[in-house]
Amino acid sequence: MSFRSRVIGCGAYLPERIVSNAELARRLDTSDEWIVQRTGIRQRHVAAPGELTSDLAVHAAERALAAAGLSGADLDLIVLATATPDNTFPATATKVQSRLGMTEGCAFDVQAVCSGFIYALATADNFIRCGQARRALVIGAETFSRILDWEDRGTCVLFGDGAGAIVLASHRDEGGGAPERGVLSTHLHADGRHHDILYVDGGPSTTGSCGFLRMEGKEVFRHAVHRLAEVVDEALSANGLAARDLDWLVPHQANRRIIDSMGRKLDLPAEKVVVTIDRHANTSAASVPLALAEAVGDGRIKPGHLVLMEAMGGGLTWGAALVRW
Ligand SMILES: CC(C)(COP(=O)(O)OP(=O)(O)OC[C@H]1O[C@@H](n2cnc3c(N)ncnc32)[C@H](O)[C@@H]1OP(=O)(O)O)[C@@H](O)C(=O)NCCC(=O)NCCS
Repeated sequence: MSFRSRVIGCGAYLPERIVSNAELARRLDTSDEWIVQRTGIRQRHVAAPGELTSDLAVHAAERALAAAGLSGADLDLIVLATATPDNTFPATATKVQSRLGMTEGCAFDVQAVCSGFIYALATADNFIRCGQARRALVIGAETFSRILDWEDRGTCVLFGDGAGAIVLASHRDEGGGAPERGVLSTHLHADGRHHDILYVDGGPSTTGSCGFLRMEGKEVFRHAVHRLAEVVDEALSANGLAARDLDWLVPHQANRRIIDSMGRKLDLPAEKVVVTIDRHANTSAASVPLALAEAVGDGRIKPGHLVLMEAMGGGLTWGAALVRW
């Protein structure tokens, strides 16, 4: 008997406060024109003082559970992807677990920065495939506004806060016949040699304080275009599929130019690429589930559609997931 995980609900949450490029340009040597041209970003959401990653995660999770017709008590696994946890420990996932009223099973965080959601999805999918979980909540939630150096125009204009979540349920994989629905495959990679091009210059064991994000943008850009193209090919060929079979690309939202280059590589018309970067900026682990929730919520992604997700982040880490919705 083999199992496969299906996505049965999606949810998202963005903090109320919106910070426009114009607002940033009033306190930094930057402009709306520069930010839009180089990144595609027009605005970002920023968490209120006292509003934590767990708060954003709980809102997104409640919406995903409502869409799935389930409550927290029905879950046996939470995997929460974040690089901005409420505290060094315990895992933010356990805070979310208690607020959702889930008392059994397990809950933990995974940390792969902007690839975090793909890593979390792969982890939960593997728990389900091997029969160790039946209903899993996979969350990407971040408050990157707390680790930005607001004096560094090269990084602070790029990121935003938010959370997205999906519920996975175990289904018997019948094999053969019609194409199976659910997570078809996940593909994860890391290469720690590139630590210094995207990292946070603090942490409990390094400085004892939380630190700020540091990035060599051009280098990260170069790796992203190359590595994402590779992993997308890997995901398609592992399933005997071609780019023309795709209904949707749901990419990590780091830079509009990276997204467009992937769309061109796959020869996908722009209408098949889900883009939220203009309104959300880069929300790290939250970006893919936020984009998914939007495209499922407005009816673009429908049952039976083939959806490809991909992301790259600090580490470097990168990955892809192919899902028949
Ligand atoms: C960050 C990024 C937008 C910068 O774009 P770029 O075209 O590479 O620009 P550069 O870094 O070469 O900077 C070009 C110039 O703009 C300036 N600049 C940087 N940020 C600026 C800003 N916010 N406003 C105005 N000018 C800015 C630079 O100082 C530089 O000036 P100089 O030529 O006088 O030295 C781009 O490299 C990028 O998106 N990289 C990938 C980031 C990413 O994906 N990160 C997350 C991975 S999960």
